[in-house]
Amino acid sequence: RYDEAEVAELIEERRGLEGPMLPILHAIQARFGHVPDAAVRQIAAALNLTRAEVYGVVSFYHDFHKEPRGRHVLKVCRAEACQAAGGDRVAGAIEAALGIGFGETTPDGQVTLEAVYCLGLCATAPSAMLDRRVVGRLSESRVGALIEEARL
Ligand code: FES
Repeated sequence: RYDEAEVAELIEERRGLEGPMLPILHAIQARFGHVPDAAVRQIAAALNLTRAEVYGVVSFYHDFHKEPRGRHVLKVCRAEACQAAGGDRVAGAIEAALGIGFGETTPDGQVTLEAVYCLGLCATAPSAMLDRRVVGRLSESRVGALIEEARL
């Protein structure tokens, strides 16, 4: 849970650094798993920036997340080679099976679904990644097993 005093300390320890923003954001994300709105407010105040400036940095770097993520992250490739191999149908089947859209997390906090644009696995399109494991040659009929695994 969010602890303002703890965040103030994380900021304080790093604000003397040259370019303190990224180290502060990394520390906050390591602590909370994402960068909460309240932290953005605190960082902006501490560094004399606008909230928009801090949000700009958070959105620019893919390492940072504005929302809490699920225990598992399922990344599904939406780029061309995967689309051409039936990726759209697979993506639709995954959304339906999880009951969420891309960029969302299931209400139980179990799975976050993300779109990615080429995993370098075009040879086995359509491709996806469940946490660190790559999954190739996806098909609608294989979606069920994949989702079952993500729900474990
Ligand atoms: Fe999907 Fe390259 S386009 S892995």
